[in-house]
Amino acid sequence: MNQDQLKICFVSSEVVPFSKTGGLADVAGALCKFLGRQGVDVRLFTPFYDTIDTRKFTFYPVTFLQQIPLEMGSRQFLFNVLTAQLPGSEVDVYFVDCPALYHRGRLYTEDPDEYLRFAFLSRAAIECCQRMGWGPHIFHCNDWQTALIPLYLKTLYSWDGLFRHSKTVLTIHNIGYQGQFSSSILHELGLGAHRNLFWQDDLAVGMVNFLKTGILYADMLTTVSETYAREIQTEAYGAGLHPFLQMRANSLVGIVNGVDYEEWNPETDPYIPYHYSIRDLAGKEKDKAYLLNQLGLTFEPHVPLYGIVSRLTAQKGFDLLFDCLFDILAHNAIRFVVLGSGESRYEEFFQSAQQAFPDKFCFYRGYSNELAHLIEAGADMFVMPSRYEPCGLNQIYSLKYGTIPIVRKTGGLADTVQNYDWVSQTGTGFVFEHFTSDGLRWAMGSAYETYQHRDAWLKLMRNAMSQNFSWEVQGQKYIALYWRVAGRSG
Ligand code: ADP
Ligand code: GLC
Repeated sequence: MNQDQLKICFVSSEVVPFSKTGGLADVAGALCKFLGRQGVDVRLFTPFYDTIDTRKFTFYPVTFLQQIPLEMGSRQFLFNVLTAQLPGSEVDVYFVDCPALYHRGRLYTEDPDEYLRFAFLSRAAIECCQRMGWGPHIFHCNDWQTALIPLYLKTLYSWDGLFRHSKTVLTIHNIGYQGQFSSSILHELGLGAHRNLFWQDDLAVGMVNFLKTGILYADMLTTVSETYAREIQTEAYGAGLHPFLQMRANSLVGIVNGVDYEEWNPETDPYIPYHYSIRDLAGKEKDKAYLLNQLGLTFEPHVPLYGIVSRLTAQKGFDLLFDCLFDILAHNAIRFVVLGSGESRYEEFFQSAQQAFPDKFCFYRGYSNELAHLIEAGADMFVMPSRYEPCGLNQIYSLKYGTIPIVRKTGGLADTVQNYDWVSQTGTGFVFEHFTSDGLRWAMGSAYETYQHRDAWLKLMRNAMSQNFSWEVQGQKYIALYWRVAGRSG
């Protein structure tokens, strides 16, 4: 094997195009594709969920990874490993097949064994590396689900010389989800003998916290934007983990996510009926007419269309619309489309907006990749008033589609969208600072006003579309980081 080839074991609970609930899946798929193309030996481990469409991809059993026993406390599991290629690359994705844990009809559950499902994934990835005789330079862990890997390597697998030089990187995609469970599970994690290595104040109140454990033991921590890296060290954004992140500040870096322009590009997008580019925007208006027609809304020239595609959770800040949306709909000639699902208070609110303004507002409750692409292409503006946003991908997709983002200045939104300035005609969107309805109303109003001035709007669209957040740029930062953590220069 090439001694200079970087070896990365990437472990993620979701991966595009196989499984997805949010941006983690896009990042796992696209970053690994990029790494593979750079000649990195990257092996991606993820669960074989029953929701994966087995007709779309070809899966092969890995002959030497069948019927592998794995003991979790007093429970004995057997798992198999299947492999498939990450589309557009030669990267092998290894699927951990254990029906008892991953056949639940969805990726994440509130079942009492949720901790076990992902502790199992973490251990299975390590066990597979052992059977492959493969000692990666880096185990790249993502979010709470795989945050125990650093501790596992330092305890249960410390005897194995294969991992003598292996280091760990933990990426925090969202600090709002930490994996907090009763400390009675330690035995089942296989870590009963290592109680002393968990945060003792948590144990004192009968808890363990997966993400915190990862923050304590990973060699390097990353998060998905520079602003979020700073924010999570503060009480307001740290969700209780800020003291730990402050403690590890020297080992924490922010790298803004890249996006996969092979998937998200109005010049080639297979989901949209009319292609367009920064040089020829004609298709965008036609996509808008098509989208509105599909939604049962009428198209009128010069009437802007606002769009939302999102998980409907408190993080995304839609509470700010509670106070102003009806008023905005009542007094302005606009169209508005929302695609998403989640907490019932948001679903009910959007449902009621549709009932009150059936000619202007459409709520599509659910998940549809195709409609997400159509909205990116057909809308004029994209609304993301997040309470917090580690990175956010939709505003970056929006930029490429000339769909002007209206965002709150937080996390990755602050790092990827600049407020439009009338005088210098610079900027790529509308950015409001304080988490208030007035702030959002101001930004939506500014967008509305600017939209009425065709030349200014075209300039704004071109500013947005010329932004480049490709993995070619961002991925190099990970490669440099991996080498640094591995203790070598690349
Ligand atoms: P988060 O990971 O917090 O949900 P991101 O902006 O990073 O936010 O990524 C969200 C991803 O999920 C995007 O690719 C977006 O298009 C997709 N998405 C979210 N909700 C839906 C939905 N209802 N239908 C289709 N795609 C969705
Ligand atoms: C999380 C964050 C989102 C980020 C994504 C991928 O789900 O909420 O902001 O873009 O992870 O890193």
